[in-house]
Formats: sequence, structure tokens, C-alpha cells
Amino acid sequence: MVATFETKRLVAARAHPDDLDDLTRMHTDPKVMETLGGKAWTLEQTQAFLERVIDHWDRHGYGVWTLRDRETGAFAGRAGLRRKVIDGYEETELLYALMPEHWAQGLATEAAQGIVRIAFDRLMFPHLVAFTQHSNAASRRVMEKAGFAFERDFIHAGLPHVLYRMRRPSGGAG
Ligand SMILES: CC(C)(COP(=O)(O)OP(=O)(O)OC[C@H]1O[C@@H](n2cnc3c(N)ncnc32)[C@H](O)[C@@H]1OP(=O)(O)O)[C@@H](O)C(=O)NCCC(=O)NCCS
Repeated sequence: MVATFETKRLVAARAHPDDLDDLTRMHTDPKVMETLGGKAWTLEQTQAFLERVIDHWDRHGYGVWTLRDRETGAFAGRAGLRRKVIDGYEETELLYALMPEHWAQGLATEAAQGIVRIAFDRLMFPHLVAFTQHSNAASRRVMEKAGFAFERDFIHAGLPHVLYRMRRPSGGAG
């Protein structure tokens, strides 16, 4: 199990009950939530999210990590892997969200690249998917920079989304 990892600027740790306050702050930030459903989450919704994330780790041995600035320890966001059924197929999804003060510095890409390496080199997934609303250009760009390619449009939660996929490179993610 990869409970922690580091990138150049981030330290990532398996999500833990103590992350509730930071995640609540993220899930009530209008800028973050604009592309994650459009509405702030209640405390109960974030609590349920964190319980699902912790349960996912317990069941599958991988999941969502909390991201913190390596220098300051400040909460930067969350990113990880989760099982997801998309149009009837079981997939492994890469997900990420950062606090606005950490945007536009390449940090989501840095986290995504670190997780892709873990997914292919350690967890040996044959492929990963990532998806976002059609209009979320920043997220699509992160997918592309991490090595994903556009696969198709699809409807998720009643909204137009785009599905991206990355296959495990032969010999691992490098
Ligand atoms: C999407 C998100 C994770 C990006 O985080 P980030 O750390 O700013 O991403 P990066 O800096 O690694 O890369 C962003 C890229 O998108 C580009 N970008 C940003 N806004 C853009 C826009 N409106 N149109 C086109 N490109 C845009 C940036 O220029 C950069 O690309 P570049 O390096 O080629 O210049 C962040 O905005 C976020 O957390 N949003 C809210 C939650 C969310 O939408 N999560 C994804 C859901 S699937």
C-alpha cells in the first residue's frame, strides 16, 4: 500500500479523519465547487465523502491522498484513485482538486503525474480514466499534461462530460 508519497513540492498522505476541517474548507469554496457540481457541500456531505474515501482505502488498498505543501505544510488539496463504474464498465479514475491559492503553479499536474506513476508501476493497473465537465479546460489540460488522451464525450450527473484514458506504458510509467 502506498500510504504516502512526495513530489517536488507536495507531500501526499492517505486521507485520514483529521482531514475533515481542510476538506470542509475545500468543499465550501465557491471557486473549487464551481466545477464540482456548482454548490457548496454541507458538513455532512464532506463527512460522508471522507468516510467513503477511508472505506475505499480499507477495501482496495489505494484511494485519495491529502496534499500538503512540502515547505509550509499548508493544505493544498486532494487527489487520488477510485473505482468507478462508467457506462457499465468498472474503471479506475484519477481525480484531483486543489485550493485556489495553489492553482496555476503546475501542482495538479505534479500530483497527477506522481499518482499515475504509482498506479502503473506499483499498483499495476492496465489503464486509468479521468473525466470532467466538457467546459473544465484547466482539468482537461492537466489530464493531457499527465499523459491522458481524449476518448469520448459522455453524460455524467446529467451534464456533458469528457472521458480521457491512459494505458500503462510498456515497462511502466517511467
Ligand atoms: C482543475 C485544477 C485541478 C487545476 O489545478 P492547477 O494546479 O491549477 O493545474 P496546473 O497548474 O497543473 O495546470 C493547469 C493547466 O490548465 C491551463 N488552464 C487553466 N485555466 C484554463 C482555462 N480557463 N482555459 C484553458 N486552459 C486553462 C493552465 O494554463 C495550465 O496549462 P499549461 O501548463 O499548459 O499552461 C484546479 O483548477 C481545481 O482544483 N479546480 C477545481 C476542482 C476541479 O475542477 N477538479 C477537477 C475535476 S475533474
